[in-house]
Amino acid sequence: MFLWLYLTPLLLLIDPHACTAQECAEFVDLDLSHAFIGTSVRVRLLLYTSEKGMCGTLMSHTDPTAHPQFNTSRLTTFLIHGYRPTGSPPRWLPTITELLLARTDMNLIVVDWNNGAATLNYFKAVENTHTVADNLTAFLEKLKENGVSMSSVHMIGISLGAHISGFVGANMNGSIGRITALDPAGPQFTGTLLKDRLDPSDAQFVDVLHTDIDALGFREPLGHVDFYPNAGTDQPGCPKSILSGSSYFKCDHQRSVFLYMESIKRVCEHKAYPCESYRGFLDGLCTSCERFGDAGCPVFGYDVTGWKDVLLKLNQTKTYFTTNPASPFCMTKYRVEVMIWNKAARWGRLTVKLHGADQEAVATIDHAAFEFKRFTGTRLLAQFDKDVKSVMKMSLKFSTGNVLQPKNRLRVLRVRLTPLEGRERPLCRYDVVVEEDREVTFRPLPCQDSNF
Ligand SMILES: *[C@@H]1O[C@H](CO)[C@@H](O)[C@H](O)[C@H]1NC(C)=O
Ligand SMILES: *[C@@H]1O[C@H](CO)[C@@H](O)[C@H](O)[C@H]1NC(C)=O
Ligand SMILES: *[C@@H]1O[C@H](CO)[C@@H](O)[C@H](O)[C@H]1NC(C)=O
Ligand SMILES: *[C@@H]1O[C@H](CO)[C@@H](O)[C@H](O)[C@H]1NC(C)=O
Repeated sequence: MFLWLYLTPLLLLIDPHACTAQECAEFVDLDLSHAFIGTSVRVRLLLYTSEKGMCGTLMSHTDPTAHPQFNTSRLTTFLIHGYRPTGSPPRWLPTITELLLARTDMNLIVVDWNNGAATLNYFKAVENTHTVADNLTAFLEKLKENGVSMSSVHMIGISLGAHISGFVGANMNGSIGRITALDPAGPQFTGTLLKDRLDPSDAQFVDVLHTDIDALGFREPLGHVDFYPNAGTDQPGCPKSILSGSSYFKCDHQRSVFLYMESIKRVCEHKAYPCESYRGFLDGLCTSCERFGDAGCPVFGYDVTGWKDVLLKLNQTKTYFTTNPASPFCMTKYRVEVMIWNKAARWGRLTVKLHGADQEAVATIDHAAFEFKRFTGTRLLAQFDKDVKSVMKMSLKFSTGNVLQPKNRLRVLRVRLTPLEGRERPLCRYDVVVEEDREVTFRPLPCQDSNF
């Protein structure tokens, strides 16, 4: 009675448009009490299309044509979440939904298996992935019966969702067009047989992002192309201490979704470099992209399909890139070559800064000390946090980290900076003395055409 007194005037104010808004199907919102008891699998298919925008439609499992906005000649994208230990809807879900709809005219199906994923018992959630996969397989068979081409199906699976995509893909005999795996789950999948996890035969093209291989993610390559940003382990900007609470556990894992969303939005490009190891990549040993022809090294993310043919030919390619701690995550890479004329070799670390009209970009090459030798070009990879378009000034700093010895200096005969990705000309500077721990700033010149 008390409640009605307040609600009745409100109800009278509600306009008919608000009623249609109420028909939007939402992702199931559970809480810790559900996770504590455990939930049994229920698979809900939420359809999003450009016609209805962010208003989801709960789809029939047996008759996709029951929904007029489902267009069988469009791309059909499935988005499949992972383990939900607290039962809450994923916080990135509205953003990725909006970004995907904005990118391409598609049938976007958000697979809501929160009932099944929300449990404190991870092993139970893992077991449930097979039930979800069988359920989705039956749905895909229905799509096929209704004329949907399996080549036009793209599954984006996050964590456990990546393996669900793999199981569905295997059930469909690898006929699905593409599977994108965002930090596929490691625990309970590492070391299993191909049939018990995602593998390249599960779809025509499988692209995988690894961001937490030392905890929740899967260490080994699982696709035709596997991306390991920041070695796939600790992501910059994520808390390093357990004092930060739950984000300590999930930040690295979740970063995969944020990196992928940036690629859908085309915020910037992460060129990814094939290499034996991340260390080799940081050392600048893997800057060659020749095997990819004119297109250069593959760009991580939604648009990597542009490299599909060459990646399929190469079978399995493991690639690396480095990111900033926050969005925009892309870094700008230059090859730096330093030649000195000091008699004795010098060991140390280098910091390079590029100054533009109103921007400054920094690259600290401090993962190792490098040896600089007389009349020998030492090659380094400098990764800048920003892309400075027209470089007006440049700074160099050299440190040995040795506080007890007298200060060193580098007598630089030539320093050359070659952009790896842009089309800008290489920048050079000849004859400059760099005192240890003291930044020296100068105006670079266009390089002279000689190998000196
Ligand atoms: C898939 O799951 C939904 C809801 O959980 C159910 O209604 C449907 O019958 C299931 N499909 C199959 C083939 O089991
Ligand atoms: C379905 O999509 C195709 C391709 O995008 C388009 O040409 C066609 O007009 C659409 N059909 C309907 C009924 O909207
Ligand atoms: C996959 O292959 C198996 C064995 O050849 C066959 O029984 C099954 O119908 C195929 N499924 C699909 C979806 O093509
Ligand atoms: C492709 O890679 C897989 C897994 O590493 C291997 O089993 C297969 O033999 C390779 N195929 C070719 C053609 O190299």
